[in-house]
Amino acid sequence: MVGVNKRQIRIGMIGYKFMGKAHSHAYRDVSFYFDSEVEPVLQAVCGRNDEGVKEAAEKMGWLSYETDWRKLIARDDIDLIDIVTPNNAHAEMAIAAAEAGKHVFCEKPLAMTLEQARRILEAVEKNGVIHMINHNYRFSPAVQYAKKLIETGRIGKIYHIRASYLQDFIMDPKFPLVWRLDKEICGSGTLGDLAAHSIDLARFLVGEFKEVTGVLETFIKERPLVEDSSGLSGKASEDMTGEVKVDDASLFIARFENGALGTFEATRFAGGNRNGNRFEINGEKGSIRWDAEKMNNLEVYFHDDEPGLQGFRNITCTEDIHPFAGAYWPAGHIIGYEHTFINLIAELLHGISKGISPSPNFHDGVRNQAVLAAIETSSTTKEWISISSLLEER
Ligand SMILES: NC(=O)c1ccc[n+]([C@@H]2O[C@H](COP(=O)([O-])OP(=O)(O)OC[C@H]3O[C@@H](n4cnc5c(N)ncnc54)[C@H](O)[C@@H]3O)[C@@H](O)[C@H]2O)c1
Repeated sequence: MVGVNKRQIRIGMIGYKFMGKAHSHAYRDVSFYFDSEVEPVLQAVCGRNDEGVKEAAEKMGWLSYETDWRKLIARDDIDLIDIVTPNNAHAEMAIAAAEAGKHVFCEKPLAMTLEQARRILEAVEKNGVIHMINHNYRFSPAVQYAKKLIETGRIGKIYHIRASYLQDFIMDPKFPLVWRLDKEICGSGTLGDLAAHSIDLARFLVGEFKEVTGVLETFIKERPLVEDSSGLSGKASEDMTGEVKVDDASLFIARFENGALGTFEATRFAGGNRNGNRFEINGEKGSIRWDAEKMNNLEVYFHDDEPGLQGFRNITCTEDIHPFAGAYWPAGHIIGYEHTFINLIAELLHGISKGISPSPNFHDGVRNQAVLAAIETSSTTKEWISISSLLEER
């Protein structure tokens, strides 16, 4: 449904599987919940397989489809290119879209390397288009409320962030070498896939990283090749194997510019943890905890609570005063994973209407990529790497 008299933003999306589904759903639902100044139109979706993309277009409500992303970008009835392809395609697509004068919305991590990320940022800036990167977890109302508590001084000076992103879907050694484990396609393993989200949450809530040092480990070094893949999984070859060149786990410690310390752990070998994206922040006046699998809730502790009653309180962030929550249901009527995408896309549309690139944008993407690069380097040099010197280096 297209709103009366609203400016339309015609979307061209490249890719249509896991994130393609999440983004398509968000475009379809955003105007239902938010009074945005602009209206997204699902103009065209692109895939490589005619039958597959046609079926996806019909199911998800896209008006047309293409099988060549360059043709999609060249179309003059497209205003924004949304990139939901694996990481190795982001740079080429994002730069081509910017050069064609299209706004660009890209999945994380922005690129395979810091150099690529910088080139993407240069292209969007040179061509004056709006840009945003999909770090959707910061758009959970509870995380947004954590940000408010920190900004209004309720937690005081921050001492620690302890973040982990734990999964277990590749623990079986027979799990195949899907694109997420193929270095040529994804660039890194848990680092770019999981730690990138924790880095974004830390930058959002605590501040800029000063320096990091970390370790990467690959527990299963040889896996069956993949014959057919879909979403996170795939069908394993019976007789062909390949070397795994990406990390199964990434651990790092960090100092922040404001003096806080961070410990981070991302792994796909934490049995029992399906999508355990969590953090705890400790400050001089209180602490905050969040867990994406219980995303409506924020645990908060204040040192100045009455003695005897001190302890973490569990807040359900579904009241009108919790950012974005008021767009949905009455208090206590919880929301889910897909709403983080709707909230982010509401921000993107608002940014387009105002001519600004909302955060997280490609500046954030470059800074995030610098932290990823520093962890990767430190895992071999065993040194602390300064983020500002990496960002200044050309
Ligand atoms: N924000 C998040 O929480 C989150 C979650 C999952 C994935 N991601 C990111 O989203 C991106 C995609 O991941 P996914 O899980 O959706 O992958 P996926 O394998 O489920 O889907 C990838 C899609 O890209 C298409 N594709 C690949 N190369 C293409 C090309 N050259 N032209 C046209 N289409 C092409 C595939 O056909 C498929 O439709 C990755 O960068 C990943 O890191 C982000």
